[in-house]
Amino acid sequence: MTNTAHPLNLAKQGPQGTQNAHGTLEYARPHGSNLVLRGWMVDAEGPFESIVVQPTLGPAYNAVRIERPDLGQAITTLPLCEYAGFHVDVPLEQVAGGAFVELVLQGLRGGEVRAQMRVGCRLLPDDFPTPPAHLSMRVSHTELDYLLQAGGMKTACDFQRAAARHGMPAPKRILDWGCGPARVTSHLQALFPGAEIVGTDLDHETVGWAAMNYPGIEFVGGNPEPPLPFDSSSFDLITGGSVFTHLTAEMQEAWLGELRRLLVPGGRALVSTLGSFAADMRSTDVSMCERLAAAGFDDQMHDATLDGVAPEGYYRGTWQTIDWTRGKWSESMTVLEVEEAGYENYQDLWVLGR
Ligand SMILES: C[S@@+](CC[C@H](N)C(=O)[O-])C[C@H]1O[C@@H](n2cnc3c(N)ncnc32)[C@H](O)[C@@H]1O
Repeated sequence: MTNTAHPLNLAKQGPQGTQNAHGTLEYARPHGSNLVLRGWMVDAEGPFESIVVQPTLGPAYNAVRIERPDLGQAITTLPLCEYAGFHVDVPLEQVAGGAFVELVLQGLRGGEVRAQMRVGCRLLPDDFPTPPAHLSMRVSHTELDYLLQAGGMKTACDFQRAAARHGMPAPKRILDWGCGPARVTSHLQALFPGAEIVGTDLDHETVGWAAMNYPGIEFVGGNPEPPLPFDSSSFDLITGGSVFTHLTAEMQEAWLGELRRLLVPGGRALVSTLGSFAADMRSTDVSMCERLAAAGFDDQMHDATLDGVAPEGYYRGTWQTIDWTRGKWSESMTVLEVEEAGYENYQDLWVLGR
C-alpha cells in the first residue's frame, strides 16, 4: 500500500526540546520479572531506526521493533507505519514500590535522538476496575482493558508533569472535568496522594459506574452547559482531557468561563485540543484540514459517539490551531503554556491559569 505525507503540513514547529513523537503506549503490564511495554511510535519521516527506553534512574533498554500491518492500514498519512511497533521489557525492580515510573522512549535515526514519547506507568492490582466495553468505547474507541489502562496511566502522567512545571505539584482539590468512566481520574490518586479528587461528566452512566468502582473519588453528574454544582474558587487544579475536542466554539467559550469560575486564584487548568500536529499525522479528512488551515478552527464534524447521550448536535469533532486557540482563549484565561502533542503524543496540551 502507498503511504503519503499529508499535503498540508499544518504543524508549524516542534515543542521545546526534543520533539514529541506520534505514538501510543498500548500495553504496560508485568510478566515474570519484567514490566512489558508495547506500542508504536513514529514521526513525520516514519518509523525510527531504533527505539531506546530510558528510565529516570538506571540503564537504558533497547526496544525490539515489531511489524504492525494493522497500523500501516490505519495510518495512511505517514510513511511505513507498519514498521512502527515496539516491545520492550524493563526489569520490575526498576518500577517496584507501587509508585508511578516515568520512562522516556527515544526514537533514533543515524545515531541521533529525533523524537520521544514519555510514558508513565505503575503496577496495577489484578482487581483494578475496568469499565464495561460500551463505556470504554465511548471515551477511547477500544474495548481492550490493557489499552485503556496504558493510555490512562500515560495521560495522568502527562497532566502531573505539566502541573508540576506550573507550580502545582501537590494540589489540594482536583476536578477531572469530562472524566468519562475514570480512565485517567482513577490514576490521579496515585499521582497526587492526599488530594481530594472529583470527577464529573455529562454522561451520567459513566459517572455512575465510576462512583461504584472508585470509592476514594467523588463523582458528580455534569451538564452539557454550565454551571456545575460547585462553589466558585473550589479547585486548584482542573483537568479536561479531550473535552474541548468535542465542543463548538460557543460551548468552548462558555466552559472556559466556568473553569475560570471554579479555579482558585493562581489555580491551573490542563486541557487538550486537536490541532495541526494531529491533523498532519492522522487525518485523512482533507476538507477538514483545509478549513483548519483557512480559519484556524473547525467544529463542523458531527461525532456520533455520544448519540443518545449528549443533546442532539452537541458532540463534535473539533480541530483548532495553536495560534487561533491562544488568541481566543486568552480572552478568558491566562495561557501559560501549550505543548504541541503533549497530551497522549497526539493532542496539544494547554496549561491555563486564573
Ligand atoms: C474523549 S472523552 C475523554 C474522557 C476522559 N477525559 C478520558 O480521557 O478518558 C470526552 C468526554 O468528555 C465528556 N464531555 C463532553 N462535553 C462535556 C461537558 N460539557 N461536560 C462534561 N463532560 C463532557 C464526554 O461525555 C466524554 O466522557
